[in-house]
Amino acid sequence: MATDTDTAPAQTHAVVLDALRDRQQKVWSSGDYNKIAALTVPVAETLVTETGIRPGARVLDVATGTGHAALAASRQGARASGLDYVPALVGIARARAAAEQLDLDLTDGVAEQLPYPDGSFDVVLSAIGVMFAADHQRAAAELVRVTRPGGQIGLASWTPSGFVGGMFGIVGRHVPPPAVTQSPLRWGTTETVADLLGAGVTDVRSTVHSVTQRFTDAAAFVDLFLAYYGPTHTAAASLSPEGRATLRADLLAHAVASARPDAPRDHLVLDWEYLVVHASRRQ
Ligand SMILES: C[S@@+](CC[C@H](N)C(=O)[O-])C[C@H]1O[C@@H](n2cnc3c(N)ncnc32)[C@H](O)[C@@H]1O
Repeated sequence: MATDTDTAPAQTHAVVLDALRDRQQKVWSSGDYNKIAALTVPVAETLVTETGIRPGARVLDVATGTGHAALAASRQGARASGLDYVPALVGIARARAAAEQLDLDLTDGVAEQLPYPDGSFDVVLSAIGVMFAADHQRAAAELVRVTRPGGQIGLASWTPSGFVGGMFGIVGRHVPPPAVTQSPLRWGTTETVADLLGAGVTDVRSTVHSVTQRFTDAAAFVDLFLAYYGPTHTAAASLSPEGRATLRADLLAHAVASARPDAPRDHLVLDWEYLVVHASRRQ
């Protein structure tokens, strides 16, 4: 039987993670993610294609950002919904849906507390989105809860060993995250995702992909990310001018070292690895 003393630490932990989520919401609201978002359209397209969505399916895209996966699902005839905690990004998703005359249900909200009844969706997706939730276990439980029995969950996440994983490692060495932070890269490992989704799912399987990016040179990539990508933008802003210069130099070295060797010499080509995990909601 749980006592007050048993439940108190768990409640305190939840409060701490809620505070972290508020802090991370500010990070994703900083910079201008819409200037980065086009780079990852193929990730969402791959996720939707691999999931095999049938017309009429009820689909939710968690942490939809500017709506990539929700839009891709809707183009395939799904009844798609999307949710994100940055209202400005949800607004852009709405404008994109309107421009394409797609009927999407887009909502401001948090992955850790989805505003949908149990079993509302045939398919629940997240394209490099839910991996950034502050409370991994609560977010994973919510993915399972809102998927109907027999429905599908499909998640795309950057891998720890890939280019973006390396970039997060560099940023974390320059600006260590709060101690309570759970690394988003945990979602880039099949076993961890299976653990997080837990006993409510079955048939967990995964595939590894990469999305190719082209920049005029390494500086073009680094300066784009320092200016507009919330996590790197906020980290850089917290540093002294000297600290910023060292961070920039380390990111430049990472980009140069990761360049595809057989690419034309007049521009930079990077392959960014990500993992797609699928699971079925237990009947
Ligand atoms: C890398 S972006 C990906 C956006 C989009 N899924 C895409 O494919 O372009 C990560 C997104 O996760 C959202 N996000 C992170 N944690 C969240 C949370 N706890 N609840 C809701 N949205 C969250 C951010 O606001 C951001 O839009």
